[in-house]
Amino acid sequence: MADRGAFAEIQHELAEDMAKVNTLIAARMASEHAPRIPQVTQHLVGAGGKRLRPLLTLATARMCGYGGDDHIKLAATVEFIHTATLLHDDVVDESAQRRGRPSANLLWDNQTSVLVGDYLFSRSFQLMVECGSLQILDILANASATIAEGEVLQLTAAQDISTTEATYLQVVRGKTAALMAAACEVGGVVAGRPEAECTALRAYGDALGIAFQMTDDYLDYSGAAASLGKNTGDDFRERKLTLPVIRAIAAADDTARAFWSRTIADGKQREGDVEQAMDYLASTGALADTRRAALDWAAKARAALAPLPAHRLRDLLADLTDFVVARAV
Ligand code: IPE
Ligand code: IPE
Ligand code: MG
Ligand code: MG
Repeated sequence: MADRGAFAEIQHELAEDMAKVNTLIAARMASEHAPRIPQVTQHLVGAGGKRLRPLLTLATARMCGYGGDDHIKLAATVEFIHTATLLHDDVVDESAQRRGRPSANLLWDNQTSVLVGDYLFSRSFQLMVECGSLQILDILANASATIAEGEVLQLTAAQDISTTEATYLQVVRGKTAALMAAACEVGGVVAGRPEAECTALRAYGDALGIAFQMTDDYLDYSGAAASLGKNTGDDFRERKLTLPVIRAIAAADDTARAFWSRTIADGKQREGDVEQAMDYLASTGALADTRRAALDWAAKARAALAPLPAHRLRDLLADLTDFVVARAV
């Protein structure tokens, strides 16, 4: 599969850099004083994860001709921010599974997940400060604030069946695309590339993140989420207004509307409702629409790379857009 190929190719190309990132992550996720911290971080970090975001930083920095070492720190920073948000997200979503393992909130408790998440956020800031660039600090600090904003916006939009696609897009841009955009942009900035190129990298990460999250939201209803190491139907139980549901509600007849009203707005869910929801998503074409929307954003991501100089990594990043929408792992 060509799409899988690009991800594996980039991993291969940057294996040495990524090994350094992993060493740095392992060194910085420990704590001298609170043994609970390495227990939790080892549980989560040891489970792997795709390392997509640090890979973006390494790839963009290399593509931009960067010859120093700071991109290793930046890649680790980005993965720390991501890991912190996952710890918090699983508390907020009451998720029981993450990366194929029981979530930290289940294995320990919510307090632990929140506090260790805070610790990782703080560690990420220590790392980015070490790079000594106020511009990079600005980009990553903004991304962190935007992620939290996206999560809060999603919280307030949940259960509201009048949520629009514009609100959904804002949530997705915040909670997922902001970090990917920043991960790509800092690769250009650390290499000292002109603003137009850094902006192009940012636009790529933004569109890639949107395609990625739309795919995630699609998979949550496609029955394939089990293979992702997460629970299927979580979004339905959480009464989240993701794109598949927004589209299905827009196309609903009276019976379907009553169903969405009961299950999402009122939260009165019964046995068999997830399956019924999936049926509606299929019969209204909402799921297929979501897939198409994800593909459109993937195409935008690819197009965003056009202003950048020709480079093997640029072509691989272009093909990576296929991977994010095709992923089943
Ligand atoms: C999970 O991201 C959170 C979302 C934005 C959907 P990933 O799927 O990249 O998580 P890991 O790091 O590979 O586990
Ligand atoms: C991803 O959101 C979490 C963040 C990017 C902060 P979701 O809640 O949709 O992702 P999963 O399904 O738990 O990975
Ligand atoms: Mg979640
Ligand atoms: Mg969430």
